[in-house]
Amino acid sequence: MTEPFAAGIERLRQEALGTLESVGDTAALEAWRVHYLGKGGVVTEELKRIGGLAPAERPAAGQIVNDLKRALSEALDVARATLEAAAQEQASAREAVDVTLPGRGVDMGVAHPLSEAMAHIEAIFVGLGFAVTSGPEIEDEFHNFEALNIPAHHPARAMHDTFYLDHGRLLRTHTSTVQIRYMERHRPPFRIIAPGRVYRSDAPDPTHSPVFHQVEGLAVGPDLTMGHLKSVLKTFLQAFFDRRLALRLRPSYFPFTEPSAEVDISCLLCGGSGCRVCKNTGWIEVLGCGLVHPAVLARVGLDPEVVRGFAFGMGVERLVMLRDGIPDVRLFYENDLRFLKSIGPCA
Ligand code: DAH
Repeated sequence: MTEPFAAGIERLRQEALGTLESVGDTAALEAWRVHYLGKGGVVTEELKRIGGLAPAERPAAGQIVNDLKRALSEALDVARATLEAAAQEQASAREAVDVTLPGRGVDMGVAHPLSEAMAHIEAIFVGLGFAVTSGPEIEDEFHNFEALNIPAHHPARAMHDTFYLDHGRLLRTHTSTVQIRYMERHRPPFRIIAPGRVYRSDAPDPTHSPVFHQVEGLAVGPDLTMGHLKSVLKTFLQAFFDRRLALRLRPSYFPFTEPSAEVDISCLLCGGSGCRVCKNTGWIEVLGCGLVHPAVLARVGLDPEVVRGFAFGMGVERLVMLRDGIPDVRLFYENDLRFLKSIGPCA
């Protein structure tokens, strides 16, 4: 009697394991478990049937059904683990991060190249003991011209293509105005720089813009000389261009300085041997300077016999163009990100 019972159980085992093979998800697996191993399931039914066997056969039959139950339980555990592993693998494939992809860049705002250059210029002069000051962009003829020894009808006025406003006001054509404004309020000794915007009614072209930036410098004290001026300018220019430079002071003319000079530096590209940037001269003009004219000192109530001053003025755009090889001044004002990103701290 045990033989057919055992054979039936064996068939059952094969059938159960066979269907288990085709179970593809956890819901089907649970249905399989309930069918074979659940309360009232196939295995329980088999256990019940043992009661109908001859008492002598029951222990062996019990053993067989218990073996079946253990085998199916073990197979269930293996199938569940396999399904879970597959689900896990799918999930991680879905959520996978490809660390080899390029990152998404964050566009950071930075200072405009001119702001960056002005801050750099200020930092260098502050290091040399200069204070930073400023004056109004809307000026009067006195501060823009007369006090600087440029009377009406002076030919120098024609060189400053001035934007005139009403009531004798104008847009300052240079930051030299701040020399006068500062000396009206402060007694020497002092040394200052005055960065700011200036205006000239020039048609825009690669080297002209109706608005641009200058930095004016002024030092007044008991015994200042061209030597002091030259050493301050050399220190500044070498710091700004970040290299050793030769300096040349070329006699020139400005109404508000005497003597006056134009400052050349050894060419940034060729170092002085001659190239297209310096037009084969080996030198590049960078700024104007001189000793403050006695008439200018007198105009603000200083005694030219007692104090002397030196002054200088430079165009910021020009310096940055030379430093970074920028071909056209208009690029500074067009807000083209391709240009803005190509120079300065972001480049
Ligand atoms: N104000 C002059 C200009 O705009 C620049 C300048 C030259 C300023 C010589 C100075 C100086 O203080 O001494 O062209």
